[in-house]
Amino acid sequence: MMDNRSVVMKLIVCIVLLSCVWCDGIDIDLSRFHPGPENHSVFRKYYTITEDSTKINITNINDDVGMFIIQVHTFVENVTLSTNLELTLHSYVTGTNVGLLWGSDESSSMFYVLRNIAVQKEVRILLVVTLYDEYDPVPGGCNLSFDTPVAPYQVITYNDEYLSVNSQAPSAYGVSCDEDRVEVAMFHLYLPEYDNNNETYFHGIEKMLTVKNILKYGTQVSVPENYFKYRRLYSSYKGTGEVFAIVATYNNKSAAYVPAVSYGCDLLNWQQSCMGPVTDHWKLSMAVQVIFGLFVCFMGHKFFRMTLYMIGFTFGVLITYLTISLEENFTTTERAVTSFIIGFMYGIVWMFFWWKFGIPLLSVHLAFLLTGFLIASIVFYAGLADIPVFTNGMNFWATFVSIMLVSLILLIPFTMYGHIFACSFLGSYACITALNYYVGGNLQYIIINTYRRVAVKNFNYAVIDPPFQMIDTLHSLLWILLLLFGIFIQVRDQRGKPPFPPNRNEVIDAERITERTSLIRAEVPPPEYT
Ligand SMILES: *[C@@H]1O[C@H](CO)[C@@H](O)[C@H](O)[C@H]1NC(C)=O
Ligand SMILES: *[C@@H]1O[C@H](CO)[C@@H](O)[C@H](O)[C@H]1NC(C)=O
Ligand SMILES: *[C@@H]1O[C@H](CO)[C@@H](O)[C@H](O)[C@H]1NC(C)=O
Ligand SMILES: *[C@@H]1O[C@H](CO)[C@@H](O)[C@H](O)[C@H]1NC(C)=O
Ligand SMILES: *[C@@H]1O[C@H](CO)[C@@H](O)[C@H](O)[C@H]1NC(C)=O
Ligand SMILES: *[C@@H]1O[C@H](CO)[C@@H](O)[C@H](O)[C@H]1NC(C)=O
Repeated sequence: MMDNRSVVMKLIVCIVLLSCVWCDGIDIDLSRFHPGPENHSVFRKYYTITEDSTKINITNINDDVGMFIIQVHTFVENVTLSTNLELTLHSYVTGTNVGLLWGSDESSSMFYVLRNIAVQKEVRILLVVTLYDEYDPVPGGCNLSFDTPVAPYQVITYNDEYLSVNSQAPSAYGVSCDEDRVEVAMFHLYLPEYDNNNETYFHGIEKMLTVKNILKYGTQVSVPENYFKYRRLYSSYKGTGEVFAIVATYNNKSAAYVPAVSYGCDLLNWQQSCMGPVTDHWKLSMAVQVIFGLFVCFMGHKFFRMTLYMIGFTFGVLITYLTISLEENFTTTERAVTSFIIGFMYGIVWMFFWWKFGIPLLSVHLAFLLTGFLIASIVFYAGLADIPVFTNGMNFWATFVSIMLVSLILLIPFTMYGHIFACSFLGSYACITALNYYVGGNLQYIIINTYRRVAVKNFNYAVIDPPFQMIDTLHSLLWILLLLFGIFIQVRDQRGKPPFPPNRNEVIDAERITERTSLIRAEVPPPEYT
C-alpha cells in the first residue's frame, strides 16, 4: 500500500518535472539571422513567464556570428539572467534591463531566466538577441568592476536629484583596454511624461535596441572625458521614463549596449514616489501658491506693499534654502521650515525699508533681481547648461550672474513698467509651477535645476536636456498668456495714477506742505506777464 503510494507520488513528481522541462523552455532558432542589416540581425519577441526558472535554448547559430547579446527586459520586476541554472559568481546579472554576451564557436547555447521575488503571478518579458560579427566592438568588454567580466548592460541608480547610468568600457578585436580607442556615444530618449504604462515602456525600449534606431530616435549627450564618462549623470525628472543607450564605435563598426530605463522613482509606489509629495500640507501650499501667483501677476503693482512683502519673502526663502543646502546635515523639512521662518523676516525687513526710505528704485530691485534669476535659469534650462564649457562652475556662474545683471540693467530705466513686468512674470511662473503639481508638467525644474547646481555635488556633470512635451508646451503658452494679460491689466489699472504709491514719509510731508502752503501759495494766482 505505502509502496504503491510512493510510486504514484514519484510518478507525479516525474511528470511535473518532465512537463516543466517542456513547458518552461523558450526555443530560439537563429538560422535565419545574420550579423549586418538590422532586419535580420535582431531577434525580438515577447513571452509571458510564470515559473521560477525558464530555460532559453538558442540553436542554429550561423558561422558568421562572432558574438551576440541576449537581453531580457521586464517591467518593474527584477529577473536574473544566467548562463547556469545554479548561480555561480560572474555568470549572471539581475535587474529589469539585463543582458549577457555570448561568443564561442558552438552552434547552440543555453541561458536561464530566474525569478527571485515575483511582483505579480506572471511576468512579461521582452527577449532580444542582437547579432554581431567578431570584428564589431564589444559593449562592456573591458573588465572593470561589474558582476560579469563582459557587461553589455547598464546599471542605473538614482536619488532625488539625478540618475547615474553606469556602464563598462567597450573593447574591440585586437585593442587593449588601456588604449581607450573604442569610442562611445551616449543617447537618451524620454517616454511620455507621467505615463507608467507597461506598453509605453516596452515601446520605448524597442526604439533603442539597434544602432540605427538609437541614432534615429535618441538624443545624443556629450561624454565627459573623466571619472564621469562611464558614470553618466542625468538630471532627474521624476515620473518621466527615460531610456538610455550607448553605442560603441571602432573602425566604422558599431555595437549597441543593452538599453536601460529609469523613471527616477519607485514604480511600485507611483502616486507617492513619482507624482510628487501627496500630503495635504503640500496640496494646501500649492493652492496658496496659485492664488498668490495670480494676485501678484494681475495686481502686484497696485498692491505695492503686499508685493514688496511677498518678493522679500520669496527672496529670503530662496537665499536661505540655497545657503543651508550647502550644509549637508539638514533634512528637507528642516531646510523648508528654516527658510520659511527666515523668509518671513526678510519680507518684514523689506517692507520696513520701503516704510523708512520710500525710494521706489531701491525697493523694486529685489523684484528685478528675482526676474533676472528666473531668466538666467530659463536660459540654462533651455540648453545652455548642456554645452560642455558650462560644466566649469566659474563659467557657469559668471554667465548666470551676467544674465541677471543684464536683466536688471534693462529693467531699471523703466522702473514702473519694469516692476509691472516683474510682477506678472514672477506671479505667472509661480502660478504655473503650482498648477504643474496638479496636472503634471516639468516647468518647475527651471528653478530646481539651478538649485541642484548650487547644492548637489557633481551636478555640473549632469545632463540637463529636459523633456519638453505637449503638456510643457501648453504650460509655456499659458505662462506667456498670463504674463501678457497680467501686464495689460496692470498697465490699464495704472493709467492716471502716480507711478508708485506714496510711502509713509511722503504722506506726512505732503500733509505738512498742504497745511502750510494753502495759505501762502495756493490762493495766490500766478503773476501774469503780458
Ligand atoms: C531587410 O530590409 C531591406 C530594406 O529595408 C529589405 O530589402 C530586405 O528584404 C529585408 N530583409 C528581410 C530578411 O526582411
Ligand atoms: C534545444 O532545442 C533543440 C532544437 O529544438 C533540441 O534539439 C535540443 O535538444 C534542445 N536542447 C535542450 C537542452 O533542450
Ligand atoms: C530590483 O532591484 C533593485 C536593485 O537591487 C532594487 O532597488 C529594487 O527595489 C528591485 N525592485 C523590485 C521590484 O524588487
Ligand atoms: C575581472 O576583474 C576582477 C577584478 O578586477 C578579477 O578578479 C577577474 O579575474 C577579472 N575577470 C576576467 C575574466 O578577467
Ligand atoms: C500592462 O498594462 C495593462 C494596462 O495598460 C494592464 O492591464 C496589464 O496588466 C499590464 N501588464 C503587466 C504585465 O503589468
Ligand atoms: C569609415 O567610413 C567612411 C564613409 O563611410 C569612410 O570615408 C572612412 O574611410 C571609413 N573609415 C575607416 C577607418 O574604415
